[in-house]
Parts: sequence; structure tokens; C-alpha cells
Amino acid sequence: MKVRKAVITAAGWGTRFLPATKVQPKEMLPLVDRPALQYIIEEIAASGIEHVVIVTASGKQAIENHFDRSFELEHFLKQKGHSQLLHEIQAISQLADICYVRQSEQLGLGHAVLITERCVGNEPFALFLPDDIIRADVPAIKQLLDVYDRYGCSVVAVEPVARHDTASYGIIEPEHVEERIFRVLGLVEKPEPEKAPSNLGIVGRYILTPEIFAMLRKTPPGKGGEIQLTDGLRLLLDDEPVFACAFQGRRFDTGTPLGLLLASLEMALDRPDLRDNLMAYLRSLELYSK
Ligand code: G1P
Repeated sequence: MKVRKAVITAAGWGTRFLPATKVQPKEMLPLVDRPALQYIIEEIAASGIEHVVIVTASGKQAIENHFDRSFELEHFLKQKGHSQLLHEIQAISQLADICYVRQSEQLGLGHAVLITERCVGNEPFALFLPDDIIRADVPAIKQLLDVYDRYGCSVVAVEPVARHDTASYGIIEPEHVEERIFRVLGLVEKPEPEKAPSNLGIVGRYILTPEIFAMLRKTPPGKGGEIQLTDGLRLLLDDEPVFACAFQGRRFDTGTPLGLLLASLEMALDRPDLRDNLMAYLRSLELYSK
């Protein structure tokens, strides 16, 4: 069955970015000149998925406003003759058909996914954790969709992580199937290095079959007292296979200040209007440190 819908979980507090996120959703922090979440919606649009469900929470209205029309702003830009900007601003609201679900209590990622069940219905869907921004020639979710099309089961994105970092990720126990593709034999949420079944960490892209909802309903609170998606996937393994795809691309964890800075830097270096001045500045820093 074709994947037509994407879920984005955007209900977290963004505590690692306080005080910037006191009133501003962390998903709206900019990478160069567009909010992080816009890159996610663009990845979705570029992969042929048209319907998006965003899980939000109180204080996140800026997200809805950003992806809606803004007639006042459009009128202003038109009057001033800023036609290029006008076009860009209008295009944002046409990227996808979006609906919103509020998570009123922070009960975990698994819970955030579970409350989208009515919007998603009985069909497979793509899941995005928007902290993970992935730069790739083929969008990361498209790479997972290709694996889903071939094997017809849930697929998680993975990448090798440093051994001492396993406690920051869901870690899979892999069985190699073919280049970059693994069958998942087991998975553990944030294990200490000595308990990790491998160094393959789950990053924020998934294709999930709708059976995950029934599993999440019976998933007890796990790590941190929260309902964990990783635990729901482990229950799913009893009923159907789950695959993992070591996608090609560069991932940035923009949920941390350093990750956001590095992603911004890399994106700015790709921009013809910024590259030269930024390079000159970086070179001057290098000279200064010698
Ligand atoms: C979540 C998941 C974890 C996954 C990670 C990827 O954790 O629970 O399994 O590896 O996202 O970014 P979080 O980073 O939200 O704590």
C-alpha cells in the first residue's frame, strides 16, 4: 500500500534550547533563513507524500501560522514589488496539506505517535522527528520508502553512532540483508554502551505499518517513565518483520545548539549569496588561532 501520509512530532519543550524556546517553538528556530521544520516539510513534499499530521502542544501556534497563508504580509510584499519573496512566502502554504493534533501531556514519543491514529487511519505512514535534519541527494525518507516498497514492512533509519553515545539512541540488533539494509532482530531504547546490541542508532525517520498503533496501546512506560516508540516496535517484531536502512546522507541533530550551528554553517556554505563572505570569515578565524 502506498505511503500517502507523514506524521511529524513537534510537541517537545525544547529544553536544550532554553531560554530561546521559552515562547518560540524549537522547530521554528532558523537554519540560515528558514525554520528547521520547513526543511522537514520540504523533504516530505520532495518524496511525494501529500498529507501531513503535525503533533503540537500549547505554545506552538507559530507552526500553524508559518504554514498558513499570511494575506497581510503577501499584500505588503506585493505593494513593495518584492515578487521573488512573495512567491517564496506563498509557496510555503502550498507545500503540503497539514492537520494538527495536540498532545496535551508529554507522555513520550510513542504516545505522540499513538494520538495520530485517527488522522492516519489504517494505512502505512512516514514518521519524522524534526530534530534530525538530513542532507542527502535522495531524501532520507525516500530511501526508506524504497526499502518499504521492496520488503513491505516497517523500516527505521539507522546510522553508526559512537559506542559511548548509545544511551542517546534507540539501538537495533541487526542482521545484514544487503548493502545498507538490515533485518531488525531486536531493539533497545537508549542502552548503556555495555548493553547495546550494536552501534546502529535509530535516527528520526521511520516508515511504520498501522499495526504499530495496537502495539503502542499496550506499550507500558519505559525509559524515563515515557511510552517509547522503540518499545512499541519491539512488540511489533513478534508479529511482523521490521527492517532498518542505513541511509546515505549527513544528519544533524538540530535539537542541540551545536548541531543547529553546524547545520546552519553547512547550509550557508552551500548558498552562493553567503558562501564567500562566510569562508573569508572562517579563514580569518583559522589565521587568528595559529
Ligand atoms: C528519540 C527516540 C530514539 C531515537 C532518537 C533519534 O529519542 O526515542 O529511539 O534514536 O529519537 O533522534 P530522543 O532523541 O527524542 O530522546
